[in-house]
Amino acid sequence: MTHANNCILSSRCKLAGTSDCNRQCPHFISLHGYSAKGGRVANANTPADYRLITLATSPARDSQAKVYATLEKYIPTFERQFEPDGDRIKSLFLWSESPGTGKTTTAIAVLNEWMIAHYLGSLKRNRQAAQTPAYFLDVNAFQTDYNLATMTNDDAAMGSIKATIQRAQQAPFAVLDDIGVRSASEAFRSYVHAIVNYRTANGLPTIFTSNLPIEEMAVVFDARLYDRMRDMCAVLPFSGESRRGRR
Ligand SMILES: Nc1ncnc2c1ncn2[C@@H]1O[C@H](COP(=O)(O)OP(=O)(O)O)[C@@H](O)[C@H]1O
Ligand SMILES: [Mg+2]
Repeated sequence: MTHANNCILSSRCKLAGTSDCNRQCPHFISLHGYSAKGGRVANANTPADYRLITLATSPARDSQAKVYATLEKYIPTFERQFEPDGDRIKSLFLWSESPGTGKTTTAIAVLNEWMIAHYLGSLKRNRQAAQTPAYFLDVNAFQTDYNLATMTNDDAAMGSIKATIQRAQQAPFAVLDDIGVRSASEAFRSYVHAIVNYRTANGLPTIFTSNLPIEEMAVVFDARLYDRMRDMCAVLPFSGESRRGRR
């Protein structure tokens, strides 16, 4: 029984498609857990539908050819995570006014490339890979969770909000999906500010997606944080109309 198509490493693994490719594979378990529960891919918190998308398999690849050409050159810079004195890895700001152009899909494809680079690079150097090499935060969903937690004054829920903030701050790589879309309370905005501020101050590579141009981050956050974001980010505009619902 092979499971090559269910493993994030399948495009890079010599065993993919052979009889040694199965759920007892130690690398499968490291990434996808036992019985496909847990593991580093689950820790990354990406939505299930996108769990195995890479640059090569992304549905947005053809219609966003220019973006993907840039990303093909960007991914090899992930090797710098293993060079203590290497140049900083750039952050990305994926932007289009229209929704449904493939920003979230693409952000996750890049996150998965990071997972692969981190895992294989650690293996090559005889190092233990981080348990959470990357973290995906859906900022909208997080805002809903936050509003609910404050509304119900629920200590356990607030504890989980705090844990999410810390994971999003400290992950070696993160996606902050849909930043600045909805009107946010001052308190919620300050939490997102704390995440972005921590990551920029520590030079941690981050992918932002937004329907707002990067200049608007001066309004969403403040001029100081915007300056830092602009210094760290390459802005990649996504073209075209919404593809949502099309197959
Ligand atoms: N450029 C594209 N080509 C083909 N399908 C796309 C493209 N962009 C988005 N899609 C599809 O549309 C849906 C929404 O994409 P998503 O990445 O969530 O867009 P966004 O984050 O820009 O709003 C997904 O099912 C995705 O596969
Ligand atoms: Mg999106």
